[in-house]
Amino acid sequence: MIDRRSFIRSSAIVSSAVLAGVAPVVLAADAEVEITPRPDGPEISAHLYGQFIEHLGGVIYDGIWVGKNSKIPNVGGIRKQFIDDMARISVPNFRWPGGCFADAYHWRDGIGAKRPRTYNYWQASAPEGVDVTETNNFGIHEFMHLCKLTGAEAYLAANMASGSPQEFHDWVAYCNAQVGTSSLADERAANGDKEPFAVKWWGVGNESWGCGGDMNPQEYATLYRRFVTQYPAYAPKPYLVAVGPRGHQKDMDLDWTRGFFDAMVGHRSPIDGLSIHYYTDFRNSPEKIATFNANGWFDVIREGARIEDVIGKHWAIMEKYDPSHHTRLIVDEWGVWYKKGEEIAPNYLLSQPLTLRDAVHTAYSFDIFNRHAEKLAMTNVAQTVNCIHSLFLAEGDKFVRLPPYYVFEMYRGHMNARQAGIQIRCEELKVPTSSGPATMAGLSGSASTKGKTLTVTLTNPSLDSPRAVAVRLTTGDITEGRGQVLTHEDMTKSNTFAHPNEVHLAPFPVNVRSNRAEISIPPRAVVALELKMS
Ligand code: AHR
Repeated sequence: MIDRRSFIRSSAIVSSAVLAGVAPVVLAADAEVEITPRPDGPEISAHLYGQFIEHLGGVIYDGIWVGKNSKIPNVGGIRKQFIDDMARISVPNFRWPGGCFADAYHWRDGIGAKRPRTYNYWQASAPEGVDVTETNNFGIHEFMHLCKLTGAEAYLAANMASGSPQEFHDWVAYCNAQVGTSSLADERAANGDKEPFAVKWWGVGNESWGCGGDMNPQEYATLYRRFVTQYPAYAPKPYLVAVGPRGHQKDMDLDWTRGFFDAMVGHRSPIDGLSIHYYTDFRNSPEKIATFNANGWFDVIREGARIEDVIGKHWAIMEKYDPSHHTRLIVDEWGVWYKKGEEIAPNYLLSQPLTLRDAVHTAYSFDIFNRHAEKLAMTNVAQTVNCIHSLFLAEGDKFVRLPPYYVFEMYRGHMNARQAGIQIRCEELKVPTSSGPATMAGLSGSASTKGKTLTVTLTNPSLDSPRAVAVRLTTGDITEGRGQVLTHEDMTKSNTFAHPNEVHLAPFPVNVRSNRAEISIPPRAVVALELKMS
């Protein structure tokens, strides 16, 4: 083994070779990643890579819906570039119509030729003079067309706070009944969609502890039972998601999960999923989106990684009530939320021009989701376009992919794959943070297999040190390997309308030797490896 200083010197050469696309000479590893394929391991559902779109600022209008008469290329009113880029990453689902918007939304307003203009929940947060009246041009038919065009499944959030069980059940019938069996299905057909939408995923409310009704868990449990008991039995069998905790709260909101499950004891209403919201919450911090130092880099990444503990703690509570774990977790809102003031336009509320730091955060989140795949049925990033943790910015005819988009692309190999065992042996990093020096794992990662293909994703959060890594299979050999890397020499970089390709994917060389793949990961980088096993 060479000494650490000369290793770092040599691997710095390796890393510039990698960036220049030249095959590197990999030296002795300073980290080992041991992978144990498990063909019968838990499946990493494709739904862990889901999306969330709400009628909020510029998300729907004009991030997604530009209108049929727009000069912007569109398919039936939906922005074509958005469709193409979503299909390209095999988008598994969209959660819609909110968010807080859902608990004030009446689905009937969004069907038919003549649609009312209505109040939008987000009006109260809009800057003075900015009108966010809801036109209802994008309703259930337009949403289902988006799903069809991109190959995604629909995950609908029912209005609990200002709606009724009947309004919810009528929406289910409108979506799922066969023509001729219900007038609502006939109305759907008259509005252009004869075939049922076959929606399986139904959220029963949203943030019912806050904008969704300001309830305590006992009150919510009572209302939940009223909403689901008479659920109409149209196919498919529903997957009913109850409102869960605000995981980003300092105490992780464990009392919500306890209180809700306590109140459900002895009742028969099914709970298929429990939603968790976890924002890497910098709303009350001076942290800026693209002007930050090393402290800010590590603050955001470390706060994001806290979601692992949140998942584990709520899962342990659920186990007491549901030892066989019928109910799984749905992280249906996650992402980094910075304080207001850097929106791309005043009416694009909460829009954030994210950077490489947020892409690294995305990779950490996905590695955690993959490693806890047995606990999670779905996750949805908040939100896909022009909002908090977005994959894109879009304004008029301008459209750009932000760095997190590429992480979705890199992690596609994990979708519907089998979780593999992963052990990372790597020196801890000593890092600066805004509350003083701290330590964190030197690498983050996850692994999965699909037949003979092994996907390994690894992130090096260090700002200055590359990592020479040996990925070792515990059984069998690696016969071929290739990779992709996302990095930039400037940790604050993003893509903009003017410079859309500043942060982009590049090929990443992999040296394969018997049961090992040897790589050198540059600092500030996410890598994805696709390895063929013997
Ligand atoms: O994603 C923005 C908002 O954050 C959602 O509407 C709400 O559910 C959450 O508080």
